[in-house]
Amino acid sequence: MSVATQLQYSGSQFLNQPFQEQLSRWNRRRLAPAFPADATAPQFEEDRNMLRLEHGFIEELRAEVRDEAASAPTEADAFIDWFEQLKATGPGQHDRLFPWLAEEANRDELRWFLSQEAAGEAGFDDLVAMTQVKLPARAKLELARNYWDEMGRGNAKGMHGPMLAQLVEILGLDTRIDHTVWESLALANAMTAMASSRHYAWHSVGALGVIELTAPDRSAHTAKGLRRIGLSGSERRYFDLHAVLDIKHSRDWNDEAIRPLVAEDPRRATAMAEGALIRLRCGARCFDRYRAHFGLE
Ligand SMILES: [Fe+2]
Ligand SMILES: [Fe+2]
Repeated sequence: MSVATQLQYSGSQFLNQPFQEQLSRWNRRRLAPAFPADATAPQFEEDRNMLRLEHGFIEELRAEVRDEAASAPTEADAFIDWFEQLKATGPGQHDRLFPWLAEEANRDELRWFLSQEAAGEAGFDDLVAMTQVKLPARAKLELARNYWDEMGRGNAKGMHGPMLAQLVEILGLDTRIDHTVWESLALANAMTAMASSRHYAWHSVGALGVIELTAPDRSAHTAKGLRRIGLSGSERRYFDLHAVLDIKHSRDWNDEAIRPLVAEDPRRATAMAEGALIRLRCGARCFDRYRAHFGLE
């Protein structure tokens, strides 16, 4: 990490390696299917403590984006225009890391990048599933269609999560929490926090929507790098797929989830704007860290 980056976050209780590892371990534990006997007093104590810290973490990320989000329009069509311009001008967009991955990174550099990205992947399918609880019908249907695509439309071989896991296996990637930089852990932890807490449900709709909006570009660059180092079509499938499918996912998410939700209650626009900007800034922090790791600064 550069000295400048270290200084920038030295005042934060949350933007550091120990806290993000702690939050990642807690998320892993609390979301895992378990038994009644696992519900012990120390666990309730830990849950209460971690929920507070998680809230503090998200509030710190919100404070970074609040002013910008407050300037987003709250009328539905104008909000969609604002949201879609994030693709061109949002934080971390068109980072020079990606052309470098496509054209120049060697096999080990691509493997390190993918290990960080895979470790920082909170599971889009589960995030969508948690977010859709009690949403109005039209948005809920869109999240259901998106979720069904994540599930390979019922075909195990088409499920997105296992497709990424397969690539991790093929490349022998190390995705252990303590081998993952805090910026990647923070990205996954922020997404999990917004999807699992109903106070941030609209934030999560915005954050997931901005992933669909911005993933195709990054996926296309990553797929190009993987082809260059000799991976086959089936090995690159996760990235080839998202370079194309998420263009449709983004259009549908904006038309069927964001637009009607904002038309029904304009306050949701500001919350979605915050969620989207939180997600993009978490991504931008990762790209800074990765570039520093590769000596690309
Ligand atoms: Fe996906
Ligand atoms: Fe998608």
